[in-house]
Amino acid sequence: MEVKRVGVVGSGIMGAGVAEVAAKAGFEVVVRSRAQESADALVAGLEKSLAKQVEKGRLDDADRQATLERLTVTTDLGELADCDLVLESVVEDLATKRHLFNELDRVCGDGAVLATNTSTLPVVELAMETGRPEQVCGIHFFNPAPMMTLVEVVRAITTSDETVATARTFAERCGKTVVDVRDQAGFIVNALLFPYLNNAVKILDAGVASRDDIDAAMKGGCNFPMGPLELLDLVGLDTSLAILEALYAEYQDPNYAPAPLLRRMVSAERYGRKSRKGFYDYQR
Ligand SMILES: NC(=O)c1ccc[n+]([C@@H]2O[C@H](COP(=O)([O-])OP(=O)(O)OC[C@H]3O[C@@H](n4cnc5c(N)ncnc54)[C@H](O)[C@@H]3O)[C@@H](O)[C@H]2O)c1
Repeated sequence: MEVKRVGVVGSGIMGAGVAEVAAKAGFEVVVRSRAQESADALVAGLEKSLAKQVEKGRLDDADRQATLERLTVTTDLGELADCDLVLESVVEDLATKRHLFNELDRVCGDGAVLATNTSTLPVVELAMETGRPEQVCGIHFFNPAPMMTLVEVVRAITTSDETVATARTFAERCGKTVVDVRDQAGFIVNALLFPYLNNAVKILDAGVASRDDIDAAMKGGCNFPMGPLELLDLVGLDTSLAILEALYAEYQDPNYAPAPLLRRMVSAERYGRKSRKGFYDYQR
């Protein structure tokens, strides 16, 4: 199935990133945000990001303009009716996503592929909210979506080969390298990454080393571009907690049991970069 028009639901970190990638790749993109304010903020963010790329000589002005023209925002889910593929990127919460898939199934055309950008939640449970479980899969982009080259295409037990092929082609046209993975919590990357991130918080909380030394150690000792605490702030501590809870629920492995400090920081609304306070402080 050829994808021309792409719907993105959610205008947070990942919704905005994926919308930029898809619009730059030549797809018509419509982003649905619940509030007009965040829809406007997404457009302002995209304008800023594209202008910066022109300034650095990575994009010409005609492409900047064409990218902006390909993207529209709405608060009405009904405007996704004629999309060929919809990728939801709302909060990592199963009940919210289930409800959304139920609505998307009613709103979208029969042929449309419905995909989730979930980091850990069971894709099959979202598929079963629809009357088209074979047309539901995971398309898991990484953060920041415009920079990270990987996409995990997630096949639920119900997903058809045709849906996987459509998802793959879409991600490849977005310029990404695709890996195939079964619908199991954390897929490849987060199943391997999150015990490490979680243990960094436990080490910090136990007073083994300071925040700065933990991050410096992993950058200098493993050649990682970011330390684990910086990376948690980038992902979002609320999203990270939700990811660990889903991983723990699936595997019951103590390495996935969220560090108590992480939970406390989320209770204190320290979500990382997006709230300008996490393990580090950030300017607006
Ligand atoms: N942050 C990352 O590094 C990362 C990477 C890959 C995938 N993801 C996944 O992408 C999805 C979105 O994460 P994010 O980092 O963009 O989060 P975010 O907190 O930046 O954005 C969440 C979005 O969900 C919306 N939302 C919140 N509650 C809602 C509700 N009840 N109904 C509808 N929309 C609601 C918010 O308005 C916002 O637009 C999650 O499934 C997450 O696991 C995140």
